[in-house]
Amino acid sequence: MSFDLIVKGGTLPNGQTADIAIAGARIAAIEPGITAEAGRVVDASGNLVAPPLVDPHFHMDATLSYGLPRINASGTLLEGIALWGELKPLLTHEAVKERALAYCDWAVSMGLLAIRSHVDVCDDRLLAVEALLEVRKEVAPHIDLQLVAFPQDGFYRSPGARENTLRALDMGVDVVGGIPHFERTMADGTRSVTALCEIAAERGLMVDLHCDETDDPLSRHIEQLAYETQRLGLGGRVAGSHLTSMHSMDNYYVSKLLPLIAEAQVAAIPNPLINIMLQGRHDSFPKRRGLTRVKEMHAHGIRVGFGQDCVLDPWYSLGTADMLDVAFMGLHVAQMSHPDEMRRCFDMVTSESAAIMGLDDYGLAVGKKASLIVLDAGDPVEAIRLRPERLCVVAAGKVVAERDRQQARLALPGRPRTVARRHRAPTARQE
Ligand code: FE2
Repeated sequence: MSFDLIVKGGTLPNGQTADIAIAGARIAAIEPGITAEAGRVVDASGNLVAPPLVDPHFHMDATLSYGLPRINASGTLLEGIALWGELKPLLTHEAVKERALAYCDWAVSMGLLAIRSHVDVCDDRLLAVEALLEVRKEVAPHIDLQLVAFPQDGFYRSPGARENTLRALDMGVDVVGGIPHFERTMADGTRSVTALCEIAAERGLMVDLHCDETDDPLSRHIEQLAYETQRLGLGGRVAGSHLTSMHSMDNYYVSKLLPLIAEAQVAAIPNPLINIMLQGRHDSFPKRRGLTRVKEMHAHGIRVGFGQDCVLDPWYSLGTADMLDVAFMGLHVAQMSHPDEMRRCFDMVTSESAAIMGLDDYGLAVGKKASLIVLDAGDPVEAIRLRPERLCVVAAGKVVAERDRQQARLALPGRPRTVARRHRAPTARQE
């Protein structure tokens, strides 16, 4: 018996040490001490071996456009949307595709191998849709790219948005998107949730709405999303992204709302890096945190995945394609400091987000697609603390990225000459 690749001696997220044998694009065995021959052996001893990082909320049509045609001076969501509106007529198919492919290279280097990207359909040319459909095909050997038809300027507010949403879905876009809090009235927002869920039900698609991304405690479109999910039998296929208004809602109302979301099996996708930056901009002090109620949703059995949302675009001037940065910020803003909670933050950028995206082929198990990452960390919590090097990234059985540990040379008398760029705990590995 021989395999194409064996990843030897790594520590799995559950703490077990095992070898992972890969044949073709599939995981063939996971057990300690595999002695069979292999085309290549990757030594992962002492390092965490995990399934790939997953980003369930991104905007690949806007990424890497920071500064085009100008920067967002106020830093608000609404100026970001206005700025994107200025950039949209200037976009070209080639430029959108080139930026998206450049971002996908960053993603692979960081072990981010599954991305759900919204794509704006409010430009009648639908050139971003065409460009990202081409990107989806080109990166398919190494990235699961899922596209959401996103009427950025409002399903009812923007003329042609309904028709363009349907056209995009006809062209092969995977998921139905929306933005009810950006419609002209609460009533239009409610109607848009119903219409979008009905489109998804008719076509057998998933739904992922930008939902209540506002500090207004009375923005309650998530209630309608849970209702329509249940009415149309869409449970398990629907996500509400952002849900930041829930941060500011009345506690009594939330005590009624959370069981309804759980009952409807609607998932939540908070985006901590972006919302800690965008929300609370109209507050003086104290300033509200820009995050929905993550721990409370967990307590009600609601599935939650952390999304990245933006990298270098009209809404966010930073970003690195590292989902561990997202987990790190989410952990802090949601105050998830218990070891079980920290561990959960790792799941929210890996397995929980994969489940929200419906990626049935994901995970470290025999028979699954052989995609994994080797991290310079001892366990998932240390991975969040260090946000370390991705020493090796394997996509569908192929090594697609490798990197050495980075070290600093110290020039101190009597001290070790080199230390790691980020310091692993002594119990995990000697520096
Ligand atoms: Fe978004």
